[in-house]
Amino acid sequence: MGKTVIVVEHKAKYFLDLASEVVVLEGKGRAREFRELDEYDAVSRELDSLGVDASHVVSKRKDRNKKGWKVLEVKNLSCWYGNRDEEPLFEDVELELESGEIVALVGPNGSGKTTLLKAIAGIHKKCNGEVKISDENRKKPFYVPQVPEYLFIKNTLEEEILSLSKKTGKRIEKITEMLEFYEHRKSSSPYTLSLGQRRWLSAVIAWSYNPPLMLFDEPTVGLDKLMLSELFRRIEILKKEGASILISTHDPRVLAEVAERAYVLENRKLKECDPDEKGLELEEIAYGRL
Ligand SMILES: Nc1ncnc2c1ncn2[C@@H]1O[C@H](COP(=O)(O)OP(=O)(O)OP(=O)(O)O)[C@@H](O)[C@H]1O
Ligand SMILES: [Mg+2]
Repeated sequence: MGKTVIVVEHKAKYFLDLASEVVVLEGKGRAREFRELDEYDAVSRELDSLGVDASHVVSKRKDRNKKGWKVLEVKNLSCWYGNRDEEPLFEDVELELESGEIVALVGPNGSGKTTLLKAIAGIHKKCNGEVKISDENRKKPFYVPQVPEYLFIKNTLEEEILSLSKKTGKRIEKITEMLEFYEHRKSSSPYTLSLGQRRWLSAVIAWSYNPPLMLFDEPTVGLDKLMLSELFRRIEILKKEGASILISTHDPRVLAEVAERAYVLENRKLKECDPDEKGLELEEIAYGRL
């Protein structure tokens, strides 16, 4: 129709076949332009070297921890928003997580992933069934919301970190060393941080509480390639320390690179699936090939 469309996106690779031009803002006022997009491999390599995610997803070998103890056991769980005599959002969900396990939860928009995480965390209460959480060290699971701002309670980033340090007993420097943008943005409201920075801050808040079970709702949205690898690196460290992480996601990279097991929530039912196969399937869908 002759319209111009500008798409702002970290996962640029999914748009290369549609775009006539790619502009990478490198920071400090510099920009690079790519117009010969038919040279797909060369462009992808260059974009990758500029920190833009342009390479295909590759499954990584995931080291499984020795069998741990059962941190989470969900049995026959059904949840509603409306009346209980109506059809539930999902029913008879069975799910388990051991200590030191990273598990992905996938499924279409609106299938109930967020609601399931909230039910496990005890936030969503209109449920039947059982959610058993081992209280080995008497800590509750930590739900990191899909909307990161829900965790921000102070007027400035500095106050946010001060309050976090008081509540968790974690030293301020230990928290701020995880926030590359801290010095530059500490006097601003955490709400004014960029999307990726807000997402990262919500993860840092969760880590500071050191919970044995983390429920991460779409942690990769808005993260650039560097932050994504840092997220995966920290998830691996937490796993080695014995933490269990359930990640709701649409991102093929989570399945291919960190998830040892995966569940799919679809048509009201939860089923286990192979994380690598599911990752490749989601990648094909994102490319528009499926
Ligand atoms: N507070 C609410 N009241 C009524 N319906 C709700 C409420 N919150 C969510 N829903 C509905 O419940 C369904 C499941 O929502 P949920 O947020 O759990 O989906 P999701 O799988 O996390 O989706 P997405 O992939 O988009 O994050 C959706 O149809 C949603 O509109
Ligand atoms: Mg959701």
